Amino acid sequence: MRILVTGGTGYIGSHTVVELQKKGFEVIIVDALFNSRKESLDAIEKISGIRPQFECFDLADSTLTDDFFARHNDIKGIIHFAAHKAVGESVEQPIKYYRNNLDSLMNILDAMRKYSVQNLVFSSSCTVYGQPDAEHLPVSERAPIKKAESPYGNTKQIAEEIISESISAYKGLNAIALRYFNPVGAHDSAMLGELPLGVPNNLMPFITQTAYGIRKCLKVFGDDYPTPDGTAIRDYIHIMDLAKAHVIAVERMIGERMKNSFEIFNLGTGTGYSVLEVIKSFEKVSGVKLNYEIVGRRSGDIEKVWADPTYSNNELGWKAERCLDEMTLSAWKWEQAYRKGETCFE
Ligand code: UD1
Repeated sequence: MRILVTGGTGYIGSHTVVELQKKGFEVIIVDALFNSRKESLDAIEKISGIRPQFECFDLADSTLTDDFFARHNDIKGIIHFAAHKAVGESVEQPIKYYRNNLDSLMNILDAMRKYSVQNLVFSSSCTVYGQPDAEHLPVSERAPIKKAESPYGNTKQIAEEIISESISAYKGLNAIALRYFNPVGAHDSAMLGELPLGVPNNLMPFITQTAYGIRKCLKVFGDDYPTPDGTAIRDYIHIMDLAKAHVIAVERMIGERMKNSFEIFNLGTGTGYSVLEVIKSFEKVSGVKLNYEIVGRRSGDIEKVWADPTYSNNELGWKAERCLDEMTLSAWKWEQAYRKGETCFE
């Protein structure tokens, strides 16, 4: 059973490919390598013993996308990860984000219709909820969608609308949108993990790079939020828990167990942790004292959000199993292995 994984050399994509192959799916990756490395394929092969097929091109190019589907007529489902994801960059270069993130999706939907590919799993984000009102925390899939804070966030909202409207218009298409909370951590083997290019934007890679001495000091953005310790709260989820949910979503579609032709699920643990709690967990599991300072809030950041995963737990039969200490420890093991040259990545 062949599954197309777009963005399959990236952070979430590569971990998902490992899990798909473990479950016996045959994977073909399409990735333009804009923000990921080809060595992911070596790492996937090392972990799973199988090298996935790989084609390098930009799915925002409709001719290349059509040509790909014309050559592969046995694709049973698509997991569409390929997208730009840096919030700050999207504010500076909005058109780049709309072009890339939406053109690729529309090209895929066109091809699905033309070549009768029925099943799509889409990478969405909890960013669609913005800062939920107090009565919507923890945030469930029924919470209102808030005006997006960034062009990146807006691409996720618009993409969900494009998918929903396409499904209404074209019979036979099915989609599952997975709204991720904050994916962190790495594969148990420490052969795969998050590999940000340049200075990391996200908290966990900034922590591990600071601990390893690559960055001097972690800036904690704001300690005046209305939270118990004043720092912002997020629902961090282990990358392997997230990867497993994708396999379950694919099996649900192929097994024709969907309740509607477009389903949306939160992927979070249901527990929120503050920035300082993440730092404490990291210091405990690594034994490294982290150099950090409190600075002002980062613009565009929300105060607190964590998932109500009840619907995903019940419907998908999936539950995030790994705790915060496992997340910080696996991220740290990966950082060390990568820096010591023990991985496939240079
Ligand atoms: C951000 C995006 C989210 C996107 C995700 C993936 C926003 C509001 N959300 O999530 O839509 O899907 O990235 O890239 O931009 N922090 C620090 N110091 C740092 C880095 C982060 O204190 O050096 C804090 C942040 O202020 C935040 C928490 O750590 O409170 C998590 O930040 P981050 O990892 O960047 O994720 P989000 O901002 O939640």
